[in-house]
Amino acid sequence: KRVVNKMSKKRILTGDRPTGRLHIGHYFGSIKTRLKLQENDEYEPFILIADVQALTDNFNNPEKVRKNVRELAIDYLSCGIDPNKTTIYIQSMIPETAELTVFYSNLVTIARLQRNPTVKTEIAQKKELFGESVTYGFLGYPVSQAADITCFDGELIPVGEDQLPLIEQCREIVRKFNSIYGKDVLKEPKEVLSGQARIKGLDGNEKMGKSLGNAIYLSDSPEEITKKVMGAVTDPGRIKKDDLGNPDICMVAYYHKLFTKEDDYKKVCEECRAGKRGCVACKKELAKNIIDTLEPIREKRKYYEAHPEEVDKVLIEGTKKAREVAKETMKKVKKAMMLNYFEN
Ligand code: TRP
Repeated sequence: KRVVNKMSKKRILTGDRPTGRLHIGHYFGSIKTRLKLQENDEYEPFILIADVQALTDNFNNPEKVRKNVRELAIDYLSCGIDPNKTTIYIQSMIPETAELTVFYSNLVTIARLQRNPTVKTEIAQKKELFGESVTYGFLGYPVSQAADITCFDGELIPVGEDQLPLIEQCREIVRKFNSIYGKDVLKEPKEVLSGQARIKGLDGNEKMGKSLGNAIYLSDSPEEITKKVMGAVTDPGRIKKDDLGNPDICMVAYYHKLFTKEDDYKKVCEECRAGKRGCVACKKELAKNIIDTLEPIREKRKYYEAHPEEVDKVLIEGTKKAREVAKETMKKVKKAMMLNYFEN
């Protein structure tokens, strides 16, 4: 049976490593773009849960990766990723991508991988895990990511800025492949950036993350959200309630901008500058707005937590569909590489 790419829709491919729950940085950074793209008929979106890639720096912690596969799927579904529009699948259950990774490994040099800025930064951050010598698997994960993308003829890749070097590396592999094995066998992918700058942490850190303890998770309870917001960093120059404040250096104002209606946000800033707004009241108001915004996501999460069989069904069916597409690509690839021995 041939899988025809319906009306030659452009395939979108994106995904995350299952290493933790999604936070509001992910929501504004990538989830919102994915929600928008799945509504467009011209596209056929796939989201992969990158468990194989997660193992490249968590090989010694398989329980963590396993547990987070379902957590991530629940996060997607709770946010409104619709399995009727977007195919969600598990990377390790598509052996074709592993096979393709092996073929691609001939098309990329070790020096080129070592020069990849994203890989370079990550290796520097993971000294504790890797010591002085990085594993072959981690150094090679961009090759595996190129296989993830091209195995589905992924043309549009919605990602954050940090992923650009990986997409560039993928394009290089595609060009090399096509130049050796056949013109236009594989498609060159293009990134889709959200246009939203990376969301800072509650402590003002440029990055939000679990290890930094400065993130609000989509699954956080109202109590957790309130507690975190109450601890957010405000203008340090403002000590007494009627001191004039500077919202430009206050994380509470920064988050009001994301979660508060525009007019109310303006009022927040004006009152702060005029010393007419206490930080505690301002934080409470913010906490309420965040809690309200995330309410529908929390509600859906409760539903899926109570119906794990539905989550499994989405993953099983998504993976099945993804596998059919990947098999078609492999046929094409093997033919181009003259590995189709018993076909005429
Ligand atoms: N590298 C991505 C991340 O760390 C996850 C990922 C794996 C991915 N394969 C992909 C993203 C293919 C886009 C396309 O979040």
